[in-house]
This record gives sequence, structure tokens and C-alpha cells, in this order.
Amino acid sequence: MSGKSGPARPPGESAGGVHAAERPRVLLSEDAIRRRVAELGARITEDYRGRDLVLVCLLKGAVVFHADLCRAVGLPLRVEFLRAASYGSGTATSGRVRIDEVDGIELAGSDVVVVEDIVDSGLTLAAILDWLRDRGARSVEVCALLWKERGVDHPFQVRYIGFRIEDRFVVGYGLDHAELYRNLPYVALLET
Ligand code: IMP
Ligand code: MG
Repeated sequence: MSGKSGPARPPGESAGGVHAAERPRVLLSEDAIRRRVAELGARITEDYRGRDLVLVCLLKGAVVFHADLCRAVGLPLRVEFLRAASYGSGTATSGRVRIDEVDGIELAGSDVVVVEDIVDSGLTLAAILDWLRDRGARSVEVCALLWKERGVDHPFQVRYIGFRIEDRFVVGYGLDHAELYRNLPYVALLET
């Protein structure tokens, strides 16, 4: 499928903590992700020229995307980190969202772009956006690497979307299953 994702890793190899019984199949190659991140970075650069841009990374899943995206934006910007957890170690949402701040985050008057790995039920983002607006940000937008097509209506807009994907569980490029696979350089479907 990918063709250009660099040296192919045989399914079941130990990179990313892969178990033999859970084989990741490449869905989005390294090349495809790199190109898309460059495009998103260019759009954010155009949209936020002259603004007080803060790229807020949602830990842990967005950490890889955020690291690449912030380097694709050609503007002065600040980076901040929030930890939001709505999932346990399984693949179904728990319905609860806990938000932890990393350092005191100063957002009054700033233009925030929340960097998220994937929008699934949207519960995490809805909670995060409320939390950020309470902090007095001048504007709050979302940049999500992945958008799961689930046919649900979210109470917020996602301004920047990397890829729309079908409703399947994916791992890699920051996304985990039971804390593993985050270091895969591509996005993969987990086949059990
Ligand atoms: P939501 O609150 O249901 O939108 O879920 C958001 C969070 O759940 C994401 O930030 C991910 O950390 C996690 N998540 C949702 N879908 C997946 C997936 O397919 N693979 C890995 N993590 C996922
Ligand atoms: Mg997760």
C-alpha cells in the first residue's frame, strides 16, 4: 500500500514493541505524513502571521505530530503541553476526560492551536476546548492529524485535519495501544 514508506518492517518485528499476535499494517506512510505535515504547517504559517501563536500539544498521543508540525510552521511561536486522558489501556472510550497542565500555561490574549493526534468521539477535545477558553485565549482552533469518520456530530470545528480515516483502531506516529507502538514512524492498523 505505502510503497514509499522507507524500509518495510516485517509484520511482527519488535520495533515499536510489536507483539507477534498484533501486527500493524501501514495505513499512512512516513512520506505521506511528512508531505501532509508540511502542508498543514504552511497553512498555519499563512493564517497566523503577526499573531501570538501557541501550539498546545495534547500528551501523549500528539507528541510526535506536534514535534514535526511546530518545525513546519515558519513563525515565532510558543509550545505548551496538556495531558488529557479519556482512554484506559483498552480500545474503547471510558467517557471521562482528565486534564493535567504541564507548568502554568499563560494563554490570555494568545491565539491557540490545539494539536491533537486523533478525533474519535470528540469527548477529549470538547473538554480541552472548554478548559482553554476559560483561560482567556483570544482564539482557539484545532489541528488534528487524524479524523475518524464515525458519523457523529461534534460540538466544535476542527480547522486543520491531516487525514480522514475509517473507524478503525490505529497506532503509530504517537498513537498507542496499551502504551505501545507510539514510536512507529507511520500510522498503522492494528490487526489482531
Ligand atoms: P476521543 O475523546 O474519543 O475523541 O478520543 C481521543 C483520544 O483517544 C485520542 O487523543 C487518542 O489518544 C485516543 N484514541 C482514539 N482513537 C484512537 C485510535 O484509533 N488509536 C489510538 N488512540 C486512539
Ligand atoms: Mg491514547
